[in-house]
Amino acid sequence: MVAAAPLDVPRLAAGDRFVLRAWDFGDLPLVREASSDDYIPLITTVPSAYSEAAGEAFVQRQWERASTGSGYPFVIVRVEDGRPLGMVGLWLRDQGEGRTSLGYWLAGSARGQGIAAEALRAVARWALDDLQIPRLQLHVEPWNVASQRTAERVGFQREGLLRSWQQVGEERRDMIMYSMLGVDLSSPAAG
Ligand SMILES: CC(C)(COP(=O)(O)OP(=O)(O)OC[C@H]1O[C@@H](n2cnc3c(N)ncnc32)[C@H](O)[C@@H]1OP(=O)(O)O)[C@@H](O)C(=O)NCCC(=O)NCCS
Repeated sequence: MVAAAPLDVPRLAAGDRFVLRAWDFGDLPLVREASSDDYIPLITTVPSAYSEAAGEAFVQRQWERASTGSGYPFVIVRVEDGRPLGMVGLWLRDQGEGRTSLGYWLAGSARGQGIAAEALRAVARWALDDLQIPRLQLHVEPWNVASQRTAERVGFQREGLLRSWQQVGEERRDMIMYSMLGVDLSSPAAG
């Protein structure tokens, strides 16, 4: 297999109030807060038991994803004070098929203000417009209404239920498949 080229994680504006940028060790407080969440460690490699070493290893894994070409991991940062609030990532495993997937989470203290939609919208536009990726995909659990609303606000279309799609913790879980194509950029939601 030919190794994928290393990726430069760009700095992207997400509306006026947020920027997306590469991870650094200054983001460890965010990893610590995410570690204490019930769900985030189940669907990501955020450690469920936080230590400085585990936090640093998480940040190093994000650098590795970029350096090995497997995806673009972004920190969502508030412009006003530089505070890191969450993560959004564009994962390229199926890029050869013209499909990439996205994932996102926010620290508990940053939720309830629609911030994930702003971050997701910025990455989706960049992926469709600048990277010219034909199809973006998201997998969301049926109970996760906040995430479904986030996807829909950005212009993702709900396609169907994938039964027993993914192992989450101890269980197989159903996932709703969402997609977004270039044509969806002109929907009012895509802004
Ligand atoms: C999903 C997540 C990123 C959304 O964060 P957020 O930007 O703070 O989202 P908000 O709380 O502002 O909610 C977004 C929308 O969902 C609605 N919503 C949130 N919780 C809801 C609920 N329980 N029932 C109905 N609607 C709900 C909000 O009213 C808002 O609606 P609007 O778009 O009409 O204004 C955040 O909840 C999170 O990090 N969860 C844990 C990790 C996760 O689930 N990641 C996604 C995996 S697919």
